[in-house]
Amino acid sequence: MVEIVPSILSADFARLAGQIASAERGGASMLHLDVMDGHFVPNITIGPPVVESLRKATRLHLDVHLMIESPERWVERFVRAGANSVSVHYEACRHLDGVLGMIRAAGALAGVVLNPATPVSVLEDVVEVADYVLLMSVNPGFGGQELIPYVLEKARKLDRLRKEKRLALPIEIDGGVHRNNLAEVVRAGCDWIVTGSAVFHSPDPEAVVREFREIAAGGAAIRC
Ligand code: DX5
Ligand code: ZN
Repeated sequence: MVEIVPSILSADFARLAGQIASAERGGASMLHLDVMDGHFVPNITIGPPVVESLRKATRLHLDVHLMIESPERWVERFVRAGANSVSVHYEACRHLDGVLGMIRAAGALAGVVLNPATPVSVLEDVVEVADYVLLMSVNPGFGGQELIPYVLEKARKLDRLRKEKRLALPIEIDGGVHRNNLAEVVRAGCDWIVTGSAVFHSPDPEAVVREFREIAAGGAAIRC
């Protein structure tokens, strides 16, 4: 099932609840929350208190993407705050297997994120214990960037890997997805399509999510 996953990074934080409700009316069932620490990436965003507030404001699946150093110090707090899934960067984890175990033990789905330049081959073994993989299609830190084309080849490789291993592993993609490349992204094998500026820089997030769901369903129908 392909999901359009709006990222609130590009939302108007003064009108957050209303913007989320609009995306939900368009058919979104998940919400992507970007956590940045000013160290792993050159930007700072939100922490557990915001996740806790959002948990009270919506029933959507809260998908937390941690772009932080030493994520093992934070994962449990984000799950307690209400995250349904938490992803950590391969590049930020000295003991990735252990951190994934901590997320799962705390009660959320555990995801691994790869920066654009990190090859899919590093996932060969750890995919067995990950609940999903997030492929960054921009260098993390900011919304509104252009999708890096070679990441689509990484999605195809990961799609082949999960088929070989007979894993029902969702592939998430994050960054630079718009109506003009969405069908191709879905055809490459991606299932959870994060989209920030396309949804929240629009005056009508509901209409964009609805339109993107239709385009994605068309792309999914012709992939094998
Ligand atoms: C970037 C974030 C993304 C961002 C995507 O580091 O991880 O989730 O919100 O925004 P767009 O869709 O505008 O590229
Ligand atoms: Zn993200």
